[in-house]
Amino acid sequence: MTALQDSFGRKIEYLRLSVTDRCDLRCSYCIPKGFHDFEMPEHWLTFDEIERVVAAFARLGVARVRLTGGEPLTRPRIAELAQRLYALPGVNDLSLSTNATLLARHAADLHAAGISRLNVSLDSLDAPLLACITGRDCLSQILDGLTAAKLAGFSPIKINMVVLGGENEHEVESMVEFCMKHGFILRLIETMPMGETGRSARFVDLQAVRQRLQQRFRLIDGVVSGGGPARYLQSADGSFSLGFITPISQHFCDTCNRVRLSADGILYLCLGQEDTLDLRSLLRDGINDAQLEAAIHAAIARKPERHEFKDQPGKIVRIMSQTGG
Ligand code: 5AD
Ligand code: SF4
Repeated sequence: MTALQDSFGRKIEYLRLSVTDRCDLRCSYCIPKGFHDFEMPEHWLTFDEIERVVAAFARLGVARVRLTGGEPLTRPRIAELAQRLYALPGVNDLSLSTNATLLARHAADLHAAGISRLNVSLDSLDAPLLACITGRDCLSQILDGLTAAKLAGFSPIKINMVVLGGENEHEVESMVEFCMKHGFILRLIETMPMGETGRSARFVDLQAVRQRLQQRFRLIDGVVSGGGPARYLQSADGSFSLGFITPISQHFCDTCNRVRLSADGILYLCLGQEDTLDLRSLLRDGINDAQLEAAIHAAIARKPERHEFKDQPGKIVRIMSQTGG
């Protein structure tokens, strides 16, 4: 079957695979405190089911897969899953997004399993403030996780910082310095109005932050390969890169190359729309591989043009950890 292309001519070559909607943190813009509406374990795709879906995507030309959540490291035997996916013909880039609280324990195994690139969510270097944002005292665990990740050989390691008005906004300079010192790429992210928690976060337009940081650290326009939504600045010698993920102030839907599979087997065609394909039901109804490929093809053909976070901020009821971040 031919490679995946949507009706707007965008090639789909990247799958974000959520392995759980659960998380050991409660970031204020993501999972509400006291939230208990998590998927039942019997709805989680099994490793065999995940492997079948990823193999089908790989046959359709999707060579890059990222494990996400919730917090992917809370799913038991995650390194074993990574190893199975990396062994599939056609999968040649496996990456992981994590909050790093459990990373110190898993870093070496995950790297050995074939994961090369790592994104770590870290919104503050101030322990009390981070505890306030995430609902738990976790900075030292995360820093231990980052140290272990460097030792294990992950490259690149990217730090994702969601910029929250009146909370960590003043910390972007110290985060730049921290990342420069450790050789991490930093990406600043605008809050998205996903669920009430996402909508309640105080949005900061990153265009002004970008100008401020560009001058302060003498950064020039840069490029980082990967095909993602971030736009980059870099230091003159190229040793440090700073990305901006700006879904609200400057959306990037026209170059979107991805779809998301949630832990319960729903394929989300767009982060900011309701269009889905229920792969779990198809798999459990006994679909064969050719039918699976055809169903994926047909779903990609109806991928929506863009999110409407700016014009219709009330639209998306689900929180980020339900879709897969
Ligand atoms: N807006 C922006 N990013 C979010 N994340 C979760 N919820 C939101 C939101 N409402 C992202 C953050 C975090 C990752 C796990 O999910 O980037 O680092
Ligand atoms: Fe967990 Fe990430 Fe959501 Fe924070 S943003 S609660 S670390 S899934």
